[in-house]
Order: sequence, then structure tokens, then C-alpha cells
Amino acid sequence: MARLIIRGGKPLRGKVRVGGRKNSAVAVLPATLLADGPSTVENLPAIEDVRVYAEILTHLGCRVAGVPAPSGNGALVVDPRDFAFAEIPYALTKRLRASYYLLGVMLARCGHAEVPLPGGCDIGLRPIDQHLKGFRALGAEVTIEHGVVRASAPRLTGATVYLDVVSVGATINIMLAATLAEGTTIIENAAKEPHVVDLANYLNAAGARVQGAGTDVIRIRGVERLQGCTHAIIPDEIEAATYMIAGAATRGEVSVENVIPKHLDPVVAKLQEAGAEVEERGDVLSIRMDRRPRAVNVKTLPYPGFPTDVQQPITVLLSLAEGTSIVTESIWESRFKHVDELKRMGTNIRVEGRTAIIEGVDRLTGAPVRATDLRAGAALVIAALAAEGQTEISGIELVDRGYERATEKLIALGADVVRED
Ligand code: EPU
Repeated sequence: MARLIIRGGKPLRGKVRVGGRKNSAVAVLPATLLADGPSTVENLPAIEDVRVYAEILTHLGCRVAGVPAPSGNGALVVDPRDFAFAEIPYALTKRLRASYYLLGVMLARCGHAEVPLPGGCDIGLRPIDQHLKGFRALGAEVTIEHGVVRASAPRLTGATVYLDVVSVGATINIMLAATLAEGTTIIENAAKEPHVVDLANYLNAAGARVQGAGTDVIRIRGVERLQGCTHAIIPDEIEAATYMIAGAATRGEVSVENVIPKHLDPVVAKLQEAGAEVEERGDVLSIRMDRRPRAVNVKTLPYPGFPTDVQQPITVLLSLAEGTSIVTESIWESRFKHVDELKRMGTNIRVEGRTAIIEGVDRLTGAPVRATDLRAGAALVIAALAAEGQTEISGIELVDRGYERATEKLIALGADVVRED
């Protein structure tokens, strides 16, 4: 088990370059299987989820070349010309949530898909009924037996699918399946997240006809084939938000570079409300905090609302605020597991169902803690950086799933961090 040892209490200062967006990378990589020729995917983050996807693509017969570079500008060339249907071992699919995109892709490309139910962070029930409803609407027969989803249809046919809940995963999976279907598919009540748009941009560059991504109605006119293309993944606004919050919690000054500031609007609005100064210059956002944060209320919502993936990190900032903050988690039923660990560091947080009531304290103190999921791990790192004394965070592999070279980036910002594997 890897752990981070952090001696906190030092304000973070400096610049950090943000990598490509995890949740976009894990959608575009499987999408390369839809094409007849090689695709180059640029600006891939050097994270565990990307490495696992590269392994899955190799397992399926693709040639995958190139390694994510330490600069965060890594590129992979995926050549799917020898791609053929294969069962995917649970040992691979359980390592990340986004393995469910193989269902949409293999259904479109092979007429048949068999994928074990996916893994990913333990943040409550994670149903995929809306994905399956979409595949069925497109004419597939779908069953789940012994933990494996099987879907088949000789060729999918376009249909209108209304999503009962706004789901990023279902929107992307249906989009992937519909790209090569006969006729037009319309996804209503679609997710509007930037990575839905990023995937649509990749697909269109490869010859697909996807319109409306970024709105709640997406129209996909099926095409016969896609060719490979080159596509650069958008920056990861969750990584950017995490470093901005770390800057604010340590009362420092941090610039995140290579971001699309618009994607961070909901986070910046809350940070400003909490008293941070935020400045935007091109693709750089700088945050400065030289006072104790003010308490603010946060409710997570689908984009363009406040992202659930930043809920755990911002909880740490608010635990240091003057006054009482209320954080409501409306996307995931069980995304407060970090709170028990944070309590060991002196926070005063009460969780009632999907709400955390945070009474701000004026300091945190280091303690041994354990990351329970990816963003919980990120939250504990922020708490450790802000706390007095030493914190040891175990289970740091979970953080590797979504943050590239975190130790190195933190050290460059002046943090006292040591990693032990
Ligand atoms: N939902 C259903 N049925 C479905 C699908 C989803 O009821 O078929 C519900 C979920 O239970 C949840 C809500 O709809 O309450 C939203 O789920 P969504 O499908 O949007 O989530 P996801 O696609 O499984 C992605 C990210 C998550 C991120 C959420 C929300 C990936 C691989 N994961 O999950 O990222 O929290 O969208 O933005 O893209 C993370 O990066 O730490 C992470 C957990």
C-alpha cells in the first residue's frame, strides 16, 4: 500500500500545469475502437485509469503505442485494425468505472458485447439501467447474468431515448452505440458535461454526425464507418479545482495553467463566495487566499452546477471556515466517507443522509488517515497540507487513478510531501 507523508501548515505557492481530463480520456480511448484506422489521442493524463484502458485495448487486439509523457502531454496511438470481439476479464473491468463504455462500443462494432459489471469508486449505488434502456431502445437484447452484461443486435437502429436521470455515463454510452447505428438517435435529458462535448468532437472528427452535445438534446445520425483521427483531450477541471482549493486551504497563492476557465465557473463562484481572490488570464486561473474562509453552502448538481467530484475537496476548505456551511450531495448517495477520516484531523462535521453540516474550526491537526475513494483521497491531501503537524495518508493508489504526478506537483508548489510505496 502506498502512503503519503505530509508535514502541513505551509502555504502552497506557484504554478501547476493541469493534465488532460480523466473522465474524457476514459471515453475517447474506447471510442477509438469505432474507427477503421488508427487514432492519436493527445493530452492524455498520466494516471492509472488511462494505463488500465490501454491494457484493455491491447487485450482486445489493438496496437497501442506511446506512453503518457511526464509533462502530462502524453499521447497514445490506438490502432484498432486487429480489434476483434473478446470477453474482457473482470480483473480489468473492476479496476475502473468507465469499462462500461465497452458495451456501447462493442455493440456498435461487433453486434455483441459481454462486459462484467464495472468497478470504480465506492460512493454508493451506481446503477447502469439508463445505459441499458438506451441500448434496448436501439434494438439490442440485453441481459445481466452472473455479474456480466450481455448485449446483442446485428445492427442497432436509431431511436429517441429520454433519460430518467441526467447521467454522464448513459449519455456517452448511448452516443457511442448510436454513432454506427442505422438512422437517427435522439438523446433527451442528456448530460451537458464538457467531456460529453469532448467525446462528440472526437467522434465528429472521425466522421460521425453528432449534433447538440453540451445541450440536453443530442442528435446522432448514424454513419457506416469512422476513420481514425487526432484529438487532444480537454483539461481536467476537477484536477484544477483540487489544486485551487489546496491553495486556498493553505492560505497560499496558486496558478493552475492549461485550463478552460469557463468549465470552472461553478467552483470559482463558490471559492469567491468563501473569500478567495480569483483572477483569470487566458488559460490560467490564479487563486489567492490570505484570510480564514467564510462559510458557504454548496449543493452538487449536474453540469453546469457544482460538480460532485469537487464536493469532498471543498468540504475540507469549509471545515476551516468561520461559521456553519451546509454541503448537500445530490448525485451520489454515499460520498461522505472522507468525513470520518477528516474528524480524526479535528474537523467538526455532522453527516445527516446526503447533507454534511460543517461547523468551521480554526485549525486542523495531522493524524494517520486512509483514503476511501479517489476524491476522498484528494480531500485528505488538502486537509494534510493545511493541518499542523504530520499526516500519513494510506491507500494513496486510489488517488493515482485520477491525479497525475501528484507528489511532484505538490512539491513544486512548496509542499513538504514524501511518498512511500
Ligand atoms: N444513474 C442512474 N442510472 C444510470 C446511470 C446513473 O440512476 O443508469 C444515477 C447515478 O446513480 C447518479 C446519477 O445518475 O445518481 C449520475 O450518474 P452518472 O451516470 O452521471 O455518473 P457516472 O457516469 O457513473 C461519471 C464520472 C464520475 C462523476 C459522475 C457525475 C466517469 C468515469 N465517472 O460517473 O466521476 O462523479 O459522472 O459527474 O466519467 C470521479 O471522477 O471521481 C467520479 C466518480
